[in-house]
Amino acid sequence: MTFDIQKIRNCFPQLKSDGYHYLDSAATSLTPAKVIDAVDEYYRDYRANVHRALFSEAVTATDKYEEARRKAAQFIHAKSAEEIIITSGATESSNILVRTLEESGVLKEGGDPTVMTERASIVTTEMEHHSALVPLQQLAKRTKLELKYIPLKDFGLDYAVAEKLITEKTALVSVILASNVTGTINDVEKIADMAHKVGAIVVVDATAAAGHVPLDVRKLDVDALYFSGHKMMAPTGVGILWVKKPLLEKLEPSSFGGHMISSVEKDGAEWAPIPERFEAGTKNIGGMIGLGAAIDHLEEVGVENIHEYVSEIASYAMTKLESIPGVSVLAEHDAKKNAGVVSFVCDFAHPHDVAEILARDRVAVRPGHHCAEVLHAALEVKATTRASFHLYNTKEDVDALVASLEKARAIFQ
Ligand SMILES: Cc1ncc(COP(=O)(O)O)c(C=O)c1O
Repeated sequence: MTFDIQKIRNCFPQLKSDGYHYLDSAATSLTPAKVIDAVDEYYRDYRANVHRALFSEAVTATDKYEEARRKAAQFIHAKSAEEIIITSGATESSNILVRTLEESGVLKEGGDPTVMTERASIVTTEMEHHSALVPLQQLAKRTKLELKYIPLKDFGLDYAVAEKLITEKTALVSVILASNVTGTINDVEKIADMAHKVGAIVVVDATAAAGHVPLDVRKLDVDALYFSGHKMMAPTGVGILWVKKPLLEKLEPSSFGGHMISSVEKDGAEWAPIPERFEAGTKNIGGMIGLGAAIDHLEEVGVENIHEYVSEIASYAMTKLESIPGVSVLAEHDAKKNAGVVSFVCDFAHPHDVAEILARDRVAVRPGHHCAEVLHAALEVKATTRASFHLYNTKEDVDALVASLEKARAIFQ
């Protein structure tokens, strides 16, 4: 594969200053000019609300917004754009989904009403981000379903234990596709297969995977999947929740207001068709149009190509970091199974101190638990320093990270 890295870097205005090493894409990715332009154009030229008025700006806004929904559907190989719900991000997607699954009563029957057992548990993993995990914990408390965790095995999941945990009593299986801490790309197909054999619903958090791993909901054979735009080059404040049509049609909305109704009378309301019935109020229209442009950008380069390129950088980073005395890498070492995230700990300094020294050298990393405290507990550390890579990073960025880390080691030792 030839990857014209200079051409790619030129697309990102924030990379214009020399000596800046942005290694925090797992927190939020940088934005290509094409996305900024698409959003700018909306606000300058045709700002209007969607699905309502008939003047030309409103028609253009609606067309571009719906075009972005269709692009999102194609991006994940959904059967149709009707299955795409526009949200404010992964956190809102996860909360909407959990609430609506609960309130619609489908958890009792699982995904498959022909498998009639009493559902008693939710199965998730030790790897989840808080935005997936905390709504599940709250759901478990409200419904008295028991929350069970597939444990870590090395930096991946223990599939043998998963097999035992997922039983005919399982209502829901919620699994992260790629970890935002270890980078591990999980075998979601395998988990989905286990879950569907017992009629459980399968939900996937694809936030750290989007833009790094080709997303194909049909191949994964899952029931719902969500992600945030801002981790895949779109603006902040917009995200996608995909739910397979047969399940989506059974779900009741959990948020109410304008746009999600077909009619309202004094004694009640009727809901709009899917997906609008799950989209109460005005959404982030400019953000969604930006998400469409971000998908175009990712597809021009090719997500497979991005993964191949980023894997090489991640692999180089792991080798270099492990050559520094006192540094331990806590990440999936098989770079092909890593979505570009390399977390590490240093025995000579706390992650926050490390990050501060690196910041002085314009190396941007993130210290902390990365909203994955259960995962950190399983790794037996309180916090890590995380370097995360995307298509605009280079081996020079890794060299700068390593040089700065050597400096930190000298200072603290
Ligand atoms: C794996 C994963 N899931 C979910 C989220 C939540 O995304 P947001 O904060 O955009 O809602 C994040 C953000 O860090 C993430 O990395």
